[in-house]
Amino acid sequence: SGGIITMDPGYKNTGSCKSAITYLDGEEGVLMYRGYPIEQLAEKSNFEEVMYLLLKGELPTAEQAKKFKSDINEYDVVSEDVTKILNAFPSTAHPMGVLSTLTSSLTAFNPKAVNVKSEEDMYRAAVTLLAKFPVLAAWTLRKMKGLPLNYSDSKLGYVENFYSMMFKQPNKELEMDPIVIDALDKLLILHADHEQNCSTSTVRLVGSAHTGLFASISSGVSALWGPLHGGANQEVVEMLERIQEDGGNVQKWVDKAKDKNDDFRLMGFGHRVYKNFDPRARIIKKAADQILDKLGIQDPALDIAKKLEQAALEDEYFVSRKLYPNVDFYSGIIYKALGIPTEMFTVMFAVGRLPGWISQWIEMRTNNEPIGRPRQIYVGEPKRDYIDLGNR
Ligand code: SDX
Repeated sequence: SGGIITMDPGYKNTGSCKSAITYLDGEEGVLMYRGYPIEQLAEKSNFEEVMYLLLKGELPTAEQAKKFKSDINEYDVVSEDVTKILNAFPSTAHPMGVLSTLTSSLTAFNPKAVNVKSEEDMYRAAVTLLAKFPVLAAWTLRKMKGLPLNYSDSKLGYVENFYSMMFKQPNKELEMDPIVIDALDKLLILHADHEQNCSTSTVRLVGSAHTGLFASISSGVSALWGPLHGGANQEVVEMLERIQEDGGNVQKWVDKAKDKNDDFRLMGFGHRVYKNFDPRARIIKKAADQILDKLGIQDPALDIAKKLEQAALEDEYFVSRKLYPNVDFYSGIIYKALGIPTEMFTVMFAVGRLPGWISQWIEMRTNNEPIGRPRQIYVGEPKRDYIDLGNR
């Protein structure tokens, strides 16, 4: 009941799995990647290290980190044929739809990466996608803005390169404020993996049919797009702007979210697993204050978010249902401060989640998991005989 699929001994892989990548305790609000607490990684690590950690299971030595980055650089050229697909989209196409299509098209251009078996082939497919995905993600922004495409610059760090491909203008120097790059790096770390969430489960299920990595990840992008999942970060900022336009009366909107006759939900609140504070939300809330302060930005949306959080956390409806802010509640406020358009917020989530999706896909294939085959509880008609047309 409630959509929870129990393990039926008669069927393997009906929706639960064993994984050694991420540990999550929803009651205690604990999140660890390969045993390292998210708070320590957000504070001390960087996204390139975390990508390696998720993929390989250990933090890299300096030598390993250097080799990892050069392996990624080797594959950062995206075929010009992909730009023909990109050009077929109108500038009004949603970036997540464009990203999902372009990611899947990589399968057509890299057929060898389809049914990879050896560890070496899986690693090559992984670094190929880690290299090309941020290029595609940046191109969705350039397309939306009608700007010329930028290409990867392997002299830059992974996050700087992504930022530069999004914002570098022709014949102009791009200012790379370290505060902005650090903030982006931290957000990508916080989104890098999250156990068996909707999009990761989708990637594992699609991949369990031995579908190629790129097409499996493309299905994860589509799942993440949903407003109840990764699409929530865009919905949160739009909600905060509506509350601001409406005079900032947060209690009115908290009451609206409680009204069962109204399908409005407090976006960025609640979680399938966390029945305590999402540890990522705590980190992002603190970072939002620091980053806006350092950048000298006054964003009324942040004040409204804090008041909304306060009002909800004092409200019996939310307290009794253990509804707390999740990763999406504050992240959009930082993305906005970094100059990232609202339509791109879920693309940012996808770039962050990519190493997690890839690591989980490789784990599933390395464990030779059988094809996913969730079962059901049948609630339809009992057996009955056919009725001829004339007797209906
Ligand atoms: C992500 O799974 C992951 O790990 C996901 C993620 C990741 O990193 O991959 O963490 C990323 O997707 C975070 C979630 C982002 N989505 C949102 O913020 C959308 C708003 N949140 C809700 O739609 C909701 O909380 C969900 C979708 C997140 C969870 O939905 P559920 O499982 O239906 O919520 P629930 O079973 O805990 O609900 C219990 C009650 C219900 O009311 P009653 O039937 O008991 O009267 O709480 C209510 C729900 O209606 N409720 C809300 C609410 N969330 C749940 N009421 C108002 N506002 C909300 N946000």
